[in-house]
Amino acid sequence: MLTQIEKQLCRSAISARQNAYAPYSKFKVGVAILDEFGKMHLGVNVENAAYPQGSCAEAGAISAMILSGSKQIKLIAVSGGGLELCTPCGGCRQKIREFASLEMPVLICNEKNFKKRFLLKTLLPVSFGPKNLF
Ligand code: THU
Repeated sequence: MLTQIEKQLCRSAISARQNAYAPYSKFKVGVAILDEFGKMHLGVNVENAAYPQGSCAEAGAISAMILSGSKQIKLIAVSGGGLELCTPCGGCRQKIREFASLEMPVLICNEKNFKKRFLLKTLLPVSFGPKNLF
């Protein structure tokens, strides 16, 4: 069901999640991104006492990717708790879309295991992207 690299990405997102800083919502999220060089970048949500200043795990992982000099998200895994699938929030779907193909798989995991695969175009249909500006 998953390739070796997909399994590795899921494991990394699940493990990163443990370091999330979510004292307010108690909802920890971990993200692992695979870039165009085969390098992995991790992110976690970082909440803040001033609630709106908190940031999502996807934003952290994208920041780490850009800092390292990469520009493409080839694959992404998200790990979150709860009974529902932890799919990226609307804002993060748009953030991911900036650097990814609409055909890219988004792998959703719970605290322990891979649960479901979506294509980015399914999560964010008829989206606005970089090409709109050229
Ligand atoms: N959160 C993420 O980090 N990523 C998502 O895609 C969904 C939500 C975080 C934000 C907040 O710290 C907590 O989960 C509850 O919303």
